[in-house]
Amino acid sequence: MIEHTILITGGAGFIGSHLTRFFVKKYPQYKIINLDKLTYAGNLENLRDVENEANYVFVKGDICDVNLLNELFERNKFSAIIHCAAESHVDRSIADPLAFLQTNIIGTASLLLTAKKYWNMDYSDKVFYHISTDEVYGSLNDTGFFTEETRYDPRSPYSASKASSDHIVRAFYHTYNLPIKISNCSNNYGPFHFPEKLIPLCIHNILNNKPLPVYGKGENVRDWLFVEDHVRAIDTIFHKGKVGETYNIGGHNEWTNITLVKELCRQMDEKLGREKGESKKLITYVKDRAGHDLRYAIDATKLKNELGWVPSLQFEEGLSKTIDWYLSNELWLNDVTSGQYKNYYEEQYHKR
Ligand code: NAD
Ligand code: DAU
Repeated sequence: MIEHTILITGGAGFIGSHLTRFFVKKYPQYKIINLDKLTYAGNLENLRDVENEANYVFVKGDICDVNLLNELFERNKFSAIIHCAAESHVDRSIADPLAFLQTNIIGTASLLLTAKKYWNMDYSDKVFYHISTDEVYGSLNDTGFFTEETRYDPRSPYSASKASSDHIVRAFYHTYNLPIKISNCSNNYGPFHFPEKLIPLCIHNILNNKPLPVYGKGENVRDWLFVEDHVRAIDTIFHKGKVGETYNIGGHNEWTNITLVKELCRQMDEKLGREKGESKKLITYVKDRAGHDLRYAIDATKLKNELGWVPSLQFEEGLSKTIDWYLSNELWLNDVTSGQYKNYYEEQYHKR
């Protein structure tokens, strides 16, 4: 018996696929509809193990396509939307900002307008949950943390587009009473992470004896959280968080990039049976990212005190699990780096 039909956007991406798998498996009484455009970052291979589950449906499409959104809302009585779809890579946003403004701002606004139209002021048991990032708060110096009260100060086209979407989501709450929730999370890592981001890129390059590009002096700091801990936080906020509220999610786990890359090298030398210090030789300092934010660090006290969420994994353990996953899934990694994974959709959906 289906209790809720939930639209997850961007469910074929890194975080979205972990979230979709978690919800499909944990809540057989929920029907999960995954709407994803399958950009370069979307990969249905990430969801192979749930693709035939009775409570899961995949729809290929763009969140900016209002006709498609109308059709989906006509056909389904969605009680919730968990909005993960986005252009997510900072370096790509520096090279091509418009794609980020389109998906992250116009796409979010299109979803909000469609939800408002079809929910038609009947907001009981409804929720529009927007997944956002700590990057909206800007950059910290050596001290302090981002809290939910920190002023927005986005500095890259990516973070500016996410900040803008957060503001629009809140505007729909204040103006139309649309029942929204927002969470802003720190850097995630784990299986199925696209190898353009620092951790999977380094794992891939160490494996293939390629240079490890460290931007600037490698002194920038990120606060890393295992992706499954993020998903548990989303589950908690989705079910127990207050409508209209924002929750910060983070691991209290700060690493400079260079220390992190060295730790990856150390663990991979051990796992690959290489001589101690061998992979470290691959570290190559390269030109810094334009406008590179120095430090992110999240204060997740509100989430802990109000909803009882805490991260479950220590970083060294999470990294080890992550490396092990990439080592046993070299085919996934090779398909993604060669672009081969794009054939999967054609084979799976156009053969019928
Ligand atoms: P990702 O790039 O891995 O996945 C994004 C997904 O969205 C892909 O499957 C892609 O095909 C899909 N998509 C992109 N444009 C679309 C469109 N116009 N219509 C429909 N689908 C579209 O991203 P991710 O790292 O999984 O991030 C997911 C969300 O979490 C994003 O909103 C991001 O801002 C946020 N976030 C990410 C992190 C992180 O460390 N990765 C941390 C905090 C917040
Ligand atoms: O903080 C949350 C954000 O984390 C998310 O909102 C973004 O979607 C996600 O991509 C991530 O952004 P970052 O820019 O922090 O992640 P990235 O893995 O690209 O870079 C991590 C750090 O490593 C950053 O300081 C830049 C640096 N870096 C990155 C790459 C790809 C390098 O030194 N070399 C590299 O090749």
